[in-house]
Amino acid sequence: MCGIVGYLGEKNSKKILLDGLKELEYRGYDSAGIAVLQNGEFSNYKAVGKLVNLEEKTKNYETKGFAVGIGHTRWATHGKPTELNAHPHLGESSYVVHNGIIENYAELKKELINNGTVFLSQTDTEVIVHQFEKNLQTAQTAFDAFSQTISELDGAYAVLLVTASEPDTIFFAKHGSPMLVGVNDENEKYFASSDTPLIGHCTNVNYFEDGDFGYVTSDEMMIMAQDGTKKEAIFSKLTQNKLSAQKDGYRFFMEKEIYEQSDVIADTLMGRVGDEEIIFDELDSNLFDGINEIKLCACGTSYHAAMSASYLFERYSKIKTSLEIASEFRYRSPIMSKDTLFVVISQSGETADTLETLKMAKNAGLKTLVICNVDNSSMVRLADACILTRAGIEKGVASTKAFATQVTVFWMMSLYIAKLRKSISDADISKQVSLLREIPTHVKVSDEMHERIKRLSKRYLHGHGFFFIGRDIFYPLALEGALKLKEISYLHAEGYPSGEMKHGPIALADPELFTIALLPEHLHYEKSKSNVEELSARDSTICAISSREFDKADDFIKIPTCKDYMLEFFEMMIVVQILSLEISIRLGNDVDMPRNLAKSVTVE
Ligand code: G6P
Repeated sequence: MCGIVGYLGEKNSKKILLDGLKELEYRGYDSAGIAVLQNGEFSNYKAVGKLVNLEEKTKNYETKGFAVGIGHTRWATHGKPTELNAHPHLGESSYVVHNGIIENYAELKKELINNGTVFLSQTDTEVIVHQFEKNLQTAQTAFDAFSQTISELDGAYAVLLVTASEPDTIFFAKHGSPMLVGVNDENEKYFASSDTPLIGHCTNVNYFEDGDFGYVTSDEMMIMAQDGTKKEAIFSKLTQNKLSAQKDGYRFFMEKEIYEQSDVIADTLMGRVGDEEIIFDELDSNLFDGINEIKLCACGTSYHAAMSASYLFERYSKIKTSLEIASEFRYRSPIMSKDTLFVVISQSGETADTLETLKMAKNAGLKTLVICNVDNSSMVRLADACILTRAGIEKGVASTKAFATQVTVFWMMSLYIAKLRKSISDADISKQVSLLREIPTHVKVSDEMHERIKRLSKRYLHGHGFFFIGRDIFYPLALEGALKLKEISYLHAEGYPSGEMKHGPIALADPELFTIALLPEHLHYEKSKSNVEELSARDSTICAISSREFDKADDFIKIPTCKDYMLEFFEMMIVVQILSLEISIRLGNDVDMPRNLAKSVTVE
């Protein structure tokens, strides 16, 4: 996830900006940059890769005395991680840094290009600075030009802008991406996209609200609300604990990442969900020409996301879809035919087994696509096409938000292919598209739900095993729920198709066998219910998750009523993630770094 810092004051600006960016390293990035305006002159440095590269580039650059400066760490979403795409972005005499996504950047860019503006990067961000400079030509003040620019942007953003026309000012705007400003007794102003860079510099901070925009100078802070009315800053004490600030106050990164899912899914959808169809600018429309089968290949959690895709592709896109565990596929002399699109799924883009299967598919002459979270990773570089999941860095070894964004991409993809193949009606596609827009609301964690699961979790700390059961696409969710639990609680858990329990595992049923039953109202409810009743009759302890009351369960976790089974999928995903988290915390385990596991497995 990208990070922003800003500084206005007399101290060594370069050091403050670089130190600030270092504090944001934990969020992940693939390039970084700073721009400082001092004595009427801009200095701008950018570097791909780690911050040491930026430090190296700036080692002979000195800042003394008053300056305004902005800095950024970039996690690529629009355009590759290159120096040109790194922030800050330059106009004629202004620089901008931005987090989030400008949804209408393509329209703005087209208009600016028609008027002669030259763009240097592939980013959505660059339109902000050019639009500002265009507005500056007719506006009375730089702030007027900035206000107008902000009103022209759609999407999510946290923006800082500095301009030679107001050399002692930093302009800011926040809508949908976090940003705060800190002050101290020395008339300095510090900006950042999260608390950590400000710790040690400021004691009081103002967290901007969505719609806020304005400017700061040494002795002024002007904040306007979206409707143009003036606001007073509301200062609060800044925490002094860096680790807890990095976790945004959550106990573990995994917990933070569970709570982030609503925002990152909104990012995943942004610019891709049209009025009635799905748009993947990153895909060539002929990618699916001559394709009669999709083969999905992955490991771990990504494999479970792939399995969920197999249900969606066959149901909506009506295309034959097969599924492969990468470590198996590698060594089993598979038959690969050229009418197959080979799709690998990977959070990291580096998993050795998955990467190897991608190479095999390429060597066999198949078209390849990667669904990945890390741009410029080995798989992204190798595959013919790529869809980025935009989950931001995931620190918890147990994957949560990466899975959520992968499934979101697959749901979108199933409709994109359905449109190409005309496999379902436009009206059905449009209905699905409007459901997709609702995912972010359904994955918001309510305090009440979290509390309930936390309370229940104390009953599930022992026993001789867990079965997570579900039917259809809830089967891969059951597999994922079981994987989460075993990864961080070290309790034995299996995911199983509900209808298959009677063919063996039911022999294990007794009060010490815990069944976590996924009972969606909108998909095979009666069938799944009968399967759970069979287990209940054999005295297995049942924890049912459903929007419908279920009296055969020992414990019941009620999810809100949803319009569609896919929205129930996302609701239940949150429940199984939090259940695992709370069980693991009660057992005293290291949730973020479970024993024996690695986040990215780059060996066989
Ligand atoms: C490791 C991780 C899992 C992950 C799997 C695949 O085993 O611990 O959480 O699902 O690798 O990783 P990938 O980066 O390819 O999605």
